[in-house]
Amino acid sequence: MRTRPLGPGAPDVSTIGLGGMPLSFADRPAEARAVSVIHAALDAGMTLIDTADVYCLDDNDIGHNERLIARALASWPGDRGSVIVATKGGLTRPGGRWERNGRPEHLRAACERSLKALGVGHIDLYQLHAPDPAVPFAESVGAIAELQREGKVRRVGLSNVSVAEIKVAQDIVEVVTVQNRLSPFFREALETGVVNYCANKAIGFLAYSPVGGRQLNKKLPDHPAVKPIADRIAASAHAVVLAWVLAQGPSVIAIPGARTVEHALDSASAADLVLSEQELKTIAAADFQRV
Ligand SMILES: NC(=O)c1ccc[n+]([C@@H]2O[C@H](COP(=O)([O-])OP(=O)(O)OC[C@H]3O[C@@H](n4cnc5c(N)ncnc54)[C@H](OP(=O)(O)O)[C@@H]3O)[C@@H](O)[C@H]2O)c1
Repeated sequence: MRTRPLGPGAPDVSTIGLGGMPLSFADRPAEARAVSVIHAALDAGMTLIDTADVYCLDDNDIGHNERLIARALASWPGDRGSVIVATKGGLTRPGGRWERNGRPEHLRAACERSLKALGVGHIDLYQLHAPDPAVPFAESVGAIAELQREGKVRRVGLSNVSVAEIKVAQDIVEVVTVQNRLSPFFREALETGVVNYCANKAIGFLAYSPVGGRQLNKKLPDHPAVKPIADRIAASAHAVVLAWVLAQGPSVIAIPGARTVEHALDSASAADLVLSEQELKTIAAADFQRV
């Protein structure tokens, strides 16, 4: 499987990583099946798994996805050391809602919980899940920088940020990755220059919801621009779209979610798929309706 540098000073990882989120929501599979999805992704050569403390049902279930990944890695016969597990802190799930909490004391407590849930002495990549408008951004980043100085966090990433916010963070800590949404349906990371900025600084850009998320991805197999390309190159529509996402910048890494082995393997196949200039242009020019 093709690889790219995760970011400055970090090892290369597979260009397609596994997004853990769908394995921990209300319609999550039973644990044995979820573990088989993670094992299939790892066996296919994925060396990056993205998770978060809040990939769970609600605040009573915090860490569900991290515990699942820890159990899957413990029972995987491969080389655990070759896999980067990226988690996040900075959100909460009261009553199943999504709320932000970027206060330093919350980030510290969340990081401690994630260390326990993952069963590790340090976190490979710790990402601030989102800026909290109630807390100065530099304070949230500063708290994570402190966790890094203490050795609890190996590398630092950001998520849901603008170029201006990345620059603020870079004055405080080495930013290794930026995780924002990117798919043909949602191109704001391209339009606002975040993907380009990351490419120029060799920061890994982790494209989240790369096939459009849990609902929109279902439109892909019949999409008038994607289907003919998929048919022509004998790939799935999802793999074609993932290849398009990877082509948006030299530091882009896509982290599609999957609840089945079949979907995880299909996404893995996109790492080796290269679209022609014309195919890339066709997808770029096409309309991807969100309704
Ligand atoms: N930082 C953030 O704020 C943020 C926000 C959202 C997501 N994320 C991260 O990004 C990851 C991916 O985002 P996402 O899960 O929202 O959306 P996504 O990857 O665009 O779409 C996920 C859904 O698409 C389906 N799918 C994916 N690949 C497929 C394939 N090759 N063939 C057929 N179906 C396929 C899967 O369906 P099945 O479930 O039926 O297999 C999956 O549930 C998350 O898991 C999470 O790690 C981060």
